Amino acid sequence: MALPNNIGDETNEVLAAQAHILNHVLNYVISMSLKCAIQLEIPDIIYSHGRAMTLSDLLNALPINKLKGHKCIYRLMRILIHVDFFIQGEEGYLHTPTSRLLLKNEPLSLSPFVQAELDPILMDPWHSLTEWFMNGDSTTFATTHGKLLFEYAGDDPRVNRLLNEAMGSDARLIIRVLIKNGKGVFEGLKSLVDVGGGTRTVARAISNAFPELKCSVFDLPHVVEGLEGGNNLSYIGGDMFKSVPSAHAILLKWILHDWSDEDCVKILKKCKEAIPSKENGGKVIVIDIVIDNEKRDNKSFETQLFSDVLMMVHVSGKERNEQEWAKLFSDSGFSHYNISHILGLRSVIEVYP
Ligand SMILES: C[S@@+](CC[C@H](N)C(=O)[O-])C[C@H]1O[C@@H](n2cnc3c(N)ncnc32)[C@H](O)[C@@H]1O
Repeated sequence: MALPNNIGDETNEVLAAQAHILNHVLNYVISMSLKCAIQLEIPDIIYSHGRAMTLSDLLNALPINKLKGHKCIYRLMRILIHVDFFIQGEEGYLHTPTSRLLLKNEPLSLSPFVQAELDPILMDPWHSLTEWFMNGDSTTFATTHGKLLFEYAGDDPRVNRLLNEAMGSDARLIIRVLIKNGKGVFEGLKSLVDVGGGTRTVARAISNAFPELKCSVFDLPHVVEGLEGGNNLSYIGGDMFKSVPSAHAILLKWILHDWSDEDCVKILKKCKEAIPSKENGGKVIVIDIVIDNEKRDNKSFETQLFSDVLMMVHVSGKERNEQEWAKLFSDSGFSHYNISHILGLRSVIEVYP
């Protein structure tokens, strides 16, 4: 392509290239506008209005400086409507299935996830990514904050709560879908340990849905400290790199993508030691992204790649395609696996010794 001062026939091409760059440079505008809308409780206000909400009704309901509101709220709404979080109806703003998932008191709300991912603690490391590529630190998070994410969370109750609420909000939705559409994964099991099951959400839902199944949550001591078990649910503190409590099956939801291949092999080997043989029905259940190399859905593929780079910045993990998963499982001594693509962006992988 010709340089800009030589632009001739390529004018449109150069302008399109400029527009492409600007669009991606400004992509964060959507994330940050969404965060602001959640903090102002706009999804809740529009939803509880019960019908189309005019701009002036919305302004009246918002606890903001009215002068700024008159000049700016319609602009915030316009970008959020453009990306389908709300609808502009003839009579005013309407909620959508997506904005319903952002309501404060909706049990499946993802707003804690939005708030955590866009908190300065998790956003600041992006400014250190280039520096991290050049230094010897294990994660970009550590370059910025001087310690690893899980250590930081152990030392800072606000961040610990933020992360736990974010994980819990994702877990509530995922486990509900899994119990509805993939019940067979748990049927016939006598005991299950949710390794790194910090938020308890998953183990609680499984223990309620399968009262005969003995469930334990295994996580770092500070995460399970003081938690009281009950009926078929218990809590165990420890380090999965040292040992994993024995059970018929081990669940690893959103764990392995936090870690490098070498660390995953260590974790998987500990899990293998903790379960019975193939003949006796032992298995590890992994819930994580399997990158769709076929790009069956371009937006899902893009989100999977977003998550992959996120894992590079916050922790020392990665998202994996099927070949990479297969290698991890065979390097850890497992004989075969079965993937079910029943969780949207993520999949359930049953791995057998
Ligand atoms: C990304 S969160 C996933 C939480 C949960 N499985 C979910 O999906 O909602 C990772 C979890 O791994 C736990 N964890 C980190 N290092 C660990 C270790 N060495 N041993 C046990 N758990 C660990 C963290 O405390 C955290 O609860």
